Amino acid sequence: MKKFIKYLLLTACLGLFISGCSSSGADGASAKDTLIVATNAEFPPYEYYENNEIVGIDIDIIKAVAEDIGMKVQIEDMAFDSVIASIQSGKSDVGIAGLTITEDRLENVNFSIPYTETQQVVIVNENSDIVAIDDLKNRSIGVQLGTTGDIFAEDVEGATVERYNKGMEAIQALRQGKIDAVIIDKEPAKVFVSQNNDIEMLDEDFVVEEYAIAIGKDNTELLEKINASLEKLKDSGKLKEIADKYITAE
Ligand code: ARG
Repeated sequence: MKKFIKYLLLTACLGLFISGCSSSGADGASAKDTLIVATNAEFPPYEYYENNEIVGIDIDIIKAVAEDIGMKVQIEDMAFDSVIASIQSGKSDVGIAGLTITEDRLENVNFSIPYTETQQVVIVNENSDIVAIDDLKNRSIGVQLGTTGDIFAEDVEGATVERYNKGMEAIQALRQGKIDAVIIDKEPAKVFVSQNNDIEMLDEDFVVEEYAIAIGKDNTELLEKINASLEKLKDSGKLKEIADKYITAE
């Protein structure tokens, strides 16, 4: 009889042990309830610091998407040219950083459906003799390292490309007369121009680009979930609402 009780106790303990195991398994799964998001918070109004907090259109979008798919978000700020690598290595689940869909990037990550259309623009000093894209030939152009602006600048005949870690650093170099122009995305350009009255944006802009969320190549399940919630956010008007919160109509 004693033996039998011992046995019972043992199996009960074993049972506890196993369920203990599975509950720690559940904890493991709950770690996956957090979406690790790579960004570069140097890009107002999409991602930037406000009172030590990263805010912006992209941040609101990814939070809304995460909420919709029942996940929390953890934002990781890093150099812009590390965002794609961080997803590839699995350190981050997704990247949202005003990322333009490009053929090159598609070799390394998948992209969600686009959530924004925009363009690269040129910023110059007030009274500059550069009045059109064509005038950029043989001049020095500042860009944020690894951006599509960087690629456009490289294609300008005879131009010298100066690469900065932050768009704002390129703007500062321009204002100090170290470079002749900056190529950068339109909405950040508008923010920088509005903050500095000695610089201006050319009317002419480059081809249309689309921003999307980058996701690991093998993570098709997440890709589908994200696409479904982006569709929902589009249809419900939530995406527009988020953009309107940060971009004042012209
Ligand atoms: N749209 C450009 C690109 O994809 C610039 C993005 C820069 N984003 C940022 N968070 N700094 O290359």
